[in-house]
Amino acid sequence: MSSVAVESGGQPETQDDWYEIAERVLPGAGLGGYALPEAERFVIRRGEGCRLLGSDGKWRIDYVCGAGALILGHAHPAVTEAIQAQIPDGIHFFGTLNEKAILLADELVDAIPCAEKVMFATTGSEATFYAMRLARAFTGRDRILKFEGGYHGNHDYSNISVAPKAVSNYPAGQADTGGIPASTQDSVLIAPYNDLEAVRRLVEEHRAELAAIIVEPIQRVVCPKPDFLPGLRKICDDNNVLLIYDEVVTGFRLAYGGAQEYFGVKPDLAAYGKVVGGASALSAVAGPAEIINLSAPANRGQSNYAYINGTLHGNPVAATAGLATLAELRAPGFYKSLNALGDTVRKEVQAVLDHHGMRAVATGDASLWQILFTDKAPTSYADMLSVDSEETRAFDLTLLRHGIYALPGVRRFLSSAHAEADIDDTLKALDAACREFA
Ligand SMILES: Cc1ncc(COP(=O)(O)O)c(C=O)c1O
Repeated sequence: MSSVAVESGGQPETQDDWYEIAERVLPGAGLGGYALPEAERFVIRRGEGCRLLGSDGKWRIDYVCGAGALILGHAHPAVTEAIQAQIPDGIHFFGTLNEKAILLADELVDAIPCAEKVMFATTGSEATFYAMRLARAFTGRDRILKFEGGYHGNHDYSNISVAPKAVSNYPAGQADTGGIPASTQDSVLIAPYNDLEAVRRLVEEHRAELAAIIVEPIQRVVCPKPDFLPGLRKICDDNNVLLIYDEVVTGFRLAYGGAQEYFGVKPDLAAYGKVVGGASALSAVAGPAEIINLSAPANRGQSNYAYINGTLHGNPVAATAGLATLAELRAPGFYKSLNALGDTVRKEVQAVLDHHGMRAVATGDASLWQILFTDKAPTSYADMLSVDSEETRAFDLTLLRHGIYALPGVRRFLSSAHAEADIDDTLKALDAACREFA
């Protein structure tokens, strides 16, 4: 144990003490892809509603919302109570069905337009990975088309052309991380988001080897043009290729039926995470019985069997958190008011930015939003490249110093715990941040 921890009787006392340990034992003193600069960094002690308490004793308004998973905010009483009630009955089983997982599966099949069956996994990354495996097993073809700038998790098939520095030489992609085998990279084709003509050309050229197109219906914070998702559906149908929605973010966030309901276009398969497990370790793949059944245990040994299995798949605590969360989301008017709050935030934030003459837009849709330093809301990855990312990140850090927690350069989320007073506080902080930034 560290010297600071020993001296203070087991618990570090100050935030610097926490960082002293973190810097020693965690790479870059981070838990993943992000580490805030020293001047703005903080350690989270606890979350309550839409606010986070840091080890520095300061409260911040949280727009990260657990990467969008916490649609009800932190420590929602109904979710907390449900989890507490499950814990004495067992926090984990494996191999045999549990009641909570069956109840959640039944609810998902009711809620998700493309679902006749679902299969559980643990993370959003696994859900997209399994959706691609199912697509390959079903079609007998190897390649997947994904969009430049689209993110589908931490696995090798996702980390290709998520954040290239220049537009790609379609369909060739660039690996975003070391460690991706060339053969995996070669199995992923890259296309420009919101460009149906280019997608059609690539699909027609590669249809013999193409299993599926995977798309984030709203790619990061870039919204689909009105004809984009219907156009993808048609290209897939015309070429006998599967359409996969990555609904890890949009599922149960845009609407109860996710992007499928919100945009009115149904994919063949859809991957879920985040909200579906009430921000616990649960995710799911949904689709027609004909495809999802390929993962049925009895199919093991067949050439089109798709192995889906994991220690925590269908975990009862996570399923309980999911059930309790979904029950809250079914309350009449839930999405109407959450999405209206998103409209208000974008409008009011834009007004403050304009008032200060900032060359920035408040963009997004429904309960997703972001401030980008550019002239117009981006509709393509090329537009995203023209965003002044340094200014965008610097401004986000200024906001953070004023008590608004959003990861620099990353889209932000609203939860039902964000009340009018929190938005007022946010706008005041924004006004102060604009003055400081100017
Ligand atoms: C659209 C999308 N797909 C997949 C993932 C991966 O989910 P997870 O981080 O739970 O593995 C994410 C994570 O943010 C995501 O935004």
